[in-house]
Amino acid sequence: MWNWNLAAVALGLHALVEGTILQNGQVRDTNFPNTKVDITDYDFETYPADAPELSYKGRWDSMKVSWWAAPGLVFGFTGDRVAITFGELTTNRTLIGYRIAGMDWIFTNVTAGATHLVVTPDTPGVHDGYPVNPLRFEFRVSNWGYGVQIDKVHVGKGERLVKIPNYSRSIEFIGDSLTAGMWQSYEALSSFAHGVGAGLGDTEYSVVAYPGICVADQPCWGNPRGQVHQWFYTSDTGGRASEIWGDEPEPWDFSKPDTEPDIVVINLGTNDANEANNVSSKAYVDGYKKLIQGVHGKYPKAQVIVMQLWIGFYRYGNTFVQEKAFDQELRDVVEYFNSPGYLSAPKIWDGVTETLATLNTPSEPFVHYFSTQGILQHNDIPPMSWHPTDTGALKVASHLTQFIKLTFGWELVATGPEIYHETLYWNDEPNY
Ligand SMILES: *[C@@H]1O[C@H](CO)[C@@H](O)[C@H](O)[C@H]1NC(C)=O
Ligand SMILES: *[C@@H]1O[C@H](CO)[C@@H](O)[C@H](O)[C@H]1NC(C)=O
Ligand SMILES: *[C@@H]1O[C@H](CO)[C@@H](O)[C@H](O)[C@H]1NC(C)=O
Ligand SMILES: *[C@@H]1O[C@H](CO)[C@@H](O)[C@H](O)[C@H]1NC(C)=O
Repeated sequence: MWNWNLAAVALGLHALVEGTILQNGQVRDTNFPNTKVDITDYDFETYPADAPELSYKGRWDSMKVSWWAAPGLVFGFTGDRVAITFGELTTNRTLIGYRIAGMDWIFTNVTAGATHLVVTPDTPGVHDGYPVNPLRFEFRVSNWGYGVQIDKVHVGKGERLVKIPNYSRSIEFIGDSLTAGMWQSYEALSSFAHGVGAGLGDTEYSVVAYPGICVADQPCWGNPRGQVHQWFYTSDTGGRASEIWGDEPEPWDFSKPDTEPDIVVINLGTNDANEANNVSSKAYVDGYKKLIQGVHGKYPKAQVIVMQLWIGFYRYGNTFVQEKAFDQELRDVVEYFNSPGYLSAPKIWDGVTETLATLNTPSEPFVHYFSTQGILQHNDIPPMSWHPTDTGALKVASHLTQFIKLTFGWELVATGPEIYHETLYWNDEPNY
């Protein structure tokens, strides 16, 4: 068993930082290593943030600042050291999850302007030259509201970065807090989106989700714009984005050949449905249709999955029932895209409000409905938060993964590496 205390001593690192993950109101024991080092103590080979060996996952802007949920970075390397220098636009204390090859995720807090030594000669698996060779390094940002900026990537003296090909399958999620993993233990890395994207195996995944956002283009819980607009942009609708990009966010570059997903999953409407945001049924349907048309315009080959909303539960007499929202509206949206009228002449592109959108004529149906009914029960959603527990997220992910397999014939090819960190709850007492 790896012992981070010993590692810290061996590497002369500072004291461990205390974790603050809350579990049923109690602080969860975590042993996140403090990976911050003084770069002058090391002799590295150093690469710039735009080195062609680096593959950015999810949305990053031209300054290599990360946005939305679970943005990541992947590259191969030789040797037994990897360090990353984070730029000044990094949010201090951003928790990142990282791993080499198929070893378990490790979490660490990162700091603006600092260099973090994330792979050392003591990192488990670093000296096993099989079966993953060269070693693959991946990290993902756990929190949607925080972000990192990549300044430089370093490997050991005389070693090098290696370009790792992208997986051929790709999936994108468009959503709100439910997709971003809000209130799950490791946030985006405990979300159902991560569970599906990483869990399918050999699949690229991107999570364009931000808490509180509506699909309709109106202010919702402090987000100035809805997904029908913001999805076309690199940055999200958070305060960090307005600080860095003001009113002129960079449009997302959909022309990169690698970014076209095969499947786009949309889970939006929980915020539109909240009375506080005052979104009418008509505005919801209109926004949703335009988003799907926008997605189809940018990704003509992508299949779109519309998720039935899974609002929380309430006690009803002597049992529990699930609250629903926009249930008929969503079925109508799906039916609309599958109607012969739409498929023969999609000229219903009435009043494109989003200037970056393009229209594309569908040649065959591409919109699918995923019913979430029966997946979650009331104790999969904690009191007050209206967001699933880790178990709830895992159930949604499992069912959606199977739906994707059954609908599109995608085989499940993950061979065993951990997807969700710290979900190993077990019993070793056979006779109570
Ligand atoms: C990250 O670091 C800060 C400052 O050291 C600490 O307060 C916080 O608890 C850390 N977060 C986690 C999840 O470890
Ligand atoms: C981030 O942390 C670094 C190192 O502790 C510090 O110098 C810097 O002022 C912090 N930045 C902000 C915005 O707090
Ligand atoms: C993988 O895809 C990303 C995102 O489109 C791209 O930036 C990167 O260059 C690709 N990596 C390789 C090795 O082709
Ligand atoms: C809600 O929307 C309706 C219709 O757009 C508008 O008339 C009303 O003033 C709005 N209410 C609030 C509280 O914003």
